[in-house]
Amino acid sequence: MKAYFGDFGGRFVPELLVPPLEELEKAMETYLTNPLYTSELNSLLCHYAGRPTPSTFCPNLSRELGFKLYLKREDLLHSGSHKINNTLGQGLLAKRMGKTRLVAETGAGQHGVATAVAAARLNMSCLVFMGKVDVERQASNVARMRLLGCEVRPVLDGTQTLKDAINEALRYWISSQADTHYCFGTAAGPHPFPTLVRHLQSVIGQEIKLQINDREKKNPDLVVACVGGGSNSIGAFYHFLEDKNVTLVGVEAAGTGTPGCYNSAPLNLGSPGILHGQFSMLLQTPEGQILPSHSVSAGLDYPSVGPEHAFLNATGRVHYGLVNDFKALEAFKILSQSEGIIPALESSHALAWVLENRKEIKKDQVVVVNLSGRGDKDLDIAREHLDF
Ligand SMILES: Cc1ncc(COP(=O)(O)O)c(C=O)c1O
Repeated sequence: MKAYFGDFGGRFVPELLVPPLEELEKAMETYLTNPLYTSELNSLLCHYAGRPTPSTFCPNLSRELGFKLYLKREDLLHSGSHKINNTLGQGLLAKRMGKTRLVAETGAGQHGVATAVAAARLNMSCLVFMGKVDVERQASNVARMRLLGCEVRPVLDGTQTLKDAINEALRYWISSQADTHYCFGTAAGPHPFPTLVRHLQSVIGQEIKLQINDREKKNPDLVVACVGGGSNSIGAFYHFLEDKNVTLVGVEAAGTGTPGCYNSAPLNLGSPGILHGQFSMLLQTPEGQILPSHSVSAGLDYPSVGPEHAFLNATGRVHYGLVNDFKALEAFKILSQSEGIIPALESSHALAWVLENRKEIKKDQVVVVNLSGRGDKDLDIAREHLDF
């Protein structure tokens, strides 16, 4: 199995982590195409998680914008985001590898909740590492994880966000690999995680293709998704990579947008380097120290990005745009009030890019924004910035 996307990817881990990663790679080869595995996963995705999710046409915004705007509704999935596509797939794989516990990292809490849900459903125990800052700003998701029977361990190191939670989870996995699977939450990290997570999330783009072709009798002209580690976006893009007439846009978080301030945009504002077992784009000092990241949305608050995105950026197949906190919050309110859909702050970045670039999009073009999650978890943060 390929460990690199062009120059990016690889497996830069302590020797003690090589055996569980090789074990995972072997399990992928054995099970991902196995009919019993795929039918069990498809049944869970359909009857438990709520797939297929609709592609919802937005009549009010489309009228105003002059093109056809659809939302891929991953927000409607059980547990509130696309993360469950990945956790059910990895949970079933872990069971087949004889593991009894899932460990995970989380930023926004959505991956933590999705892992806790999968663990409960599959009769596994669950431990989630979460930076203390994120524990505080995503309190409702912490309560949900605990109610689901999962232990949430706050991480006090570094910036106390996603990057530090991943460090802690990797460290924990070294000593627990015999009975524990590390359910990595995004299409990043050491090989084979970027390939595994992309495989499990690519159902998003597969459904977009079918649904838009059914409604519009053609592919979408433009697919837009937010990029944190990169799982919902690569999931939405993967089945369109060969369709050169489909424009693909990933949206990074520019943070406050003030030059010199922290952001979460390694593809636009970073440089190549190694973090969390992968060679990819990074926010770092010229000496290679990782810089703190910032975004109003915890799920985008990460100083690196999956290696396949670094590759797609380098080749130019995908364009990566920037949206700041303010514009994302504005889009959060606009979608809520124009279409009655409250988006996650992460997904609001993707919508904000479309709103900002409306003049570049031709009349009657078909645009799909991947609505990666719902915004209930973000109400407290939004209330600090918006009047409602
Ligand atoms: C709703 C939502 N969207 C997007 C993301 C970003 O992650 P990724 O880039 O892996 O899709 C997160 C991460 O927590 C999230 O919760």
